[in-house]
Amino acid sequence: MASRTAISRGILRRSSTFGVRSVASWWKNVDPAPKDPILGVTEAFLADPSPDKVNVGVGAYRDDNGKPVVLECVREAESKIAGNLNMEYLPMGGSMKMVEETLKLAYGENSDLIKEKRIAAVQALSGTGACRLFADFQKRFHPDSQIYIPVPTWANHHNIWRDAQVPQRTFHYYHPESKGLDFASLMDDVKNAPSGSFFLLHACAHNPTGVDPSEEQWREISYQFKVNGHFAFFDMAYQGFASGDPERDAKSIRIFLEDGHLIGCAQSYAKNMGLYGQRVGCLSVLCEDETQAVVVKSQLQQIARPMYSNPPVHGALIVSTILSDPDLKNLWLKEVKVMADRIIGMRTALRENIEKLGSSLSWEHITNQIGMFCYSGLTPEQVDRLTNEFHIYLTRNGRISMAGVTTGNVGYLANAIHEVSQSA
Ligand SMILES: Cc1ncc(COP(=O)(O)O)c(C=O)c1O
Repeated sequence: MASRTAISRGILRRSSTFGVRSVASWWKNVDPAPKDPILGVTEAFLADPSPDKVNVGVGAYRDDNGKPVVLECVREAESKIAGNLNMEYLPMGGSMKMVEETLKLAYGENSDLIKEKRIAAVQALSGTGACRLFADFQKRFHPDSQIYIPVPTWANHHNIWRDAQVPQRTFHYYHPESKGLDFASLMDDVKNAPSGSFFLLHACAHNPTGVDPSEEQWREISYQFKVNGHFAFFDMAYQGFASGDPERDAKSIRIFLEDGHLIGCAQSYAKNMGLYGQRVGCLSVLCEDETQAVVVKSQLQQIARPMYSNPPVHGALIVSTILSDPDLKNLWLKEVKVMADRIIGMRTALRENIEKLGSSLSWEHITNQIGMFCYSGLTPEQVDRLTNEFHIYLTRNGRISMAGVTTGNVGYLANAIHEVSQSA
């Protein structure tokens, strides 16, 4: 072993001559990662000193003054649990009380599937964590499978299944001309995919397009999935944000359940409870019976263990406190509706303001689309003009987060959209 004196004389520092790397070379091969398209928009917004600046990039709810919101039901739950909480670990699968309440939202309050214990479910690190856990589970138990992802989709879906090493295929979803659903091509893709394929479906309030299939279309999709033996994985990040009613927004899932599908589902409380940074969510996999559900859950926990061991406790306690108290749950339902209604109101206001300016284009899609986003149809160049000339920040795919639109900025936004779209 080298003596201290030898080290201080620099003898070990010269050891690179014996083939040991110099300290500085360890990460020389690392190039900067590409900027996340959504988070990069916020960075640029924050750096802009203009008093007129508007951020309609990130999908986080704001009140009509443009301020982040903590729901009253969350405040009340926090005061109820304050001081009662110890800081012990949760089990690997997380808070079972939270998971139980969360399953009721997706599968139905009186679901037989819950009573029969056929659902393998674990607390997850919000919707992203739930998707990632599922992608790893898919890879582990169906190593040769692929995932069919809609075009377009939330950009992180691609990262998640890529990092889980599941090959990706796409299916048609959005129709740029009508700015609605390309239902015929979607159905063709479902029919033509090899039987037993995995599909990622947005349960409601599709991100980024705000375009959802109608109830009738969901029934046809479900039927075709049955015929082809496909697996539906629902990502439900916006339950309540589409219609204002979480029960109504779960319709797509309920249709698949009625048809007897064994689905998977990612749920998140980031948006509908405003718990963005708490990272509370749930992954569930519906199984044939209770025995299979126990086995599947054990494997989901096994995947979580080396990644993060067990999920965080505070947000889960907020959720279970709200959902297991009838008064708090009612308050939550009211507050979700207030958020959804404000967004719906802003859609009408944005459309009316643009139309009043005499636009020759159709802006019907602003009010036809639902949920947090409006897929405006603006080109990347038009978006660049919005940002450079009007200090309005959004992703280059033209996605406007309606949650960032307020009575105070809707006129300014409408005027800028009119300016850049007229001169196309
Ligand atoms: C479609 C979709 N899925 C999942 C998520 C995950 O969000 P979180 O991890 O914050 O719950 C988002 C967030 O923007 C989303 O839009």
